[in-house]
Amino acid sequence: MTPSTPAQPPAALFSPAYYQDPHATLSWLRENSPVHEFSFPVGDVKTWLVTRYDDVKAVLSDQHYSAEASTWGNAEFRAAGLVAAEGTILARGISVVDPPYHTRLRRRAMGAFTTRQVEQWRKTVQEHVDRILDDCSRSETFDVMDDYAGEVSAGVLGEILGMRIERHRELVSALNEAFPSDPALMHKVPEAFGRICEYAAELVAEKRSNPADDLTSALIRGGDPDDQLTEDELTGIVAAIIMGGSDTVRGFIGNAVLSLLDHPGQADLLRTDPQLAEPAVEELLRYDGALSTALFRVTTQEVELSGTTLPAGAPVIVGLLAANRDPRRFDRPELLDLRREGHRHVGFGHGLHNCLGAALARLEGAIAIPALFARFPELALNAPRGSMRYIDNWAIRRLVALPVAASAKAVTRVPQEV
Ligand code: HEM
Repeated sequence: MTPSTPAQPPAALFSPAYYQDPHATLSWLRENSPVHEFSFPVGDVKTWLVTRYDDVKAVLSDQHYSAEASTWGNAEFRAAGLVAAEGTILARGISVVDPPYHTRLRRRAMGAFTTRQVEQWRKTVQEHVDRILDDCSRSETFDVMDDYAGEVSAGVLGEILGMRIERHRELVSALNEAFPSDPALMHKVPEAFGRICEYAAELVAEKRSNPADDLTSALIRGGDPDDQLTEDELTGIVAAIIMGGSDTVRGFIGNAVLSLLDHPGQADLLRTDPQLAEPAVEELLRYDGALSTALFRVTTQEVELSGTTLPAGAPVIVGLLAANRDPRRFDRPELLDLRREGHRHVGFGHGLHNCLGAALARLEGAIAIPALFARFPELALNAPRGSMRYIDNWAIRRLVALPVAASAKAVTRVPQEV
């Protein structure tokens, strides 16, 4: 620490101020306390946050950091109710179990995400994006989060999974309640998760009797006939896909659009060079991804990480946003540079639990983000920049709203800072 470095991070971790600007705090921690012990706001549980790129990758690829907190979490962690989805089928879901069980679920799920399958989804995504852009263009102002990003992520996922339209609409409302923008609505979360599991169970039952050309039917069909998944396991995978693939894509598109509005030169590059669509997604995910952190890991024994000793059963959170701006790994990390080449970001995680839907997310990003700027070449923010708010959520980084106008002339709200 130099004499001018403040002795504390600018905002307390997972506080309202942190959610609005996590980067300043994460940057302080990365330099001054890279394996940082703090009190997790729910239950005041002693937890460690890891912020350097190499350490984040090390944790995510080391079997001494388990995703299975129900098995390895210490008494304090369990007592605080931090074991994910306890009491539902998702308590043994793909994202919170270790090998060999994880390997079995993962292999089965990956079987439905083949390259050929993802290529077929290109048309689906393009059609949804075009239709939603038509809807947005009926008004001179709209909200990117609800009217565009939310519609794209839910519409694409609903069609890919094969959901009936009326069930799909209900699911969108359950998803909004499962990931509320308003902290006062947190009490609705468990019930909303329950509904998502119910939808997933219904969908599996329906596709079992009426198989079609969709992901749910492919999951039911696939796999080794001697090692069939149980109904709960299949339902759990479908529910994990619904949850993993909705708010993340919505959040990412929103963050990407705001980053590009902040950097008009980069938005111009994207507009004029279609080859940039795919690399742009990688850089936008690095710059301000949709998951601030991965899910909890728990140490299976005492371990040492960059000079800090972690006891057995310790909850560990890896900072994906922090790692993606580590100057040890990325040259001038604060700069958005769509033409950046080189090191891979960890926006989709790393290791065994890395994002199952990354290929689909990349496809959605590479189509939806450039298409918005192509359809509205003069897209402008329709609110003061300083009024942008992020949801209070320790893992998901998503804007509450992103009001835009089709052109500077259509801006209705004075763009002065608050
Ligand atoms: C931009 C959008 C997305 C981002 C940033 C994202 C990010 C991530 C990250 C960081 C992880 C690892 C979490 C951990 O290690 O604890 C993950 C896992 C996962 N993601 Fe995504 N994701 C996105 C889109 C999707 C989509 C579209 C789907 C499904 C269609 C999906 C399904 C999943 C599932 C099922 C897992 C758990 C995998 C496992 O535990 O083996 N995600 N995602």
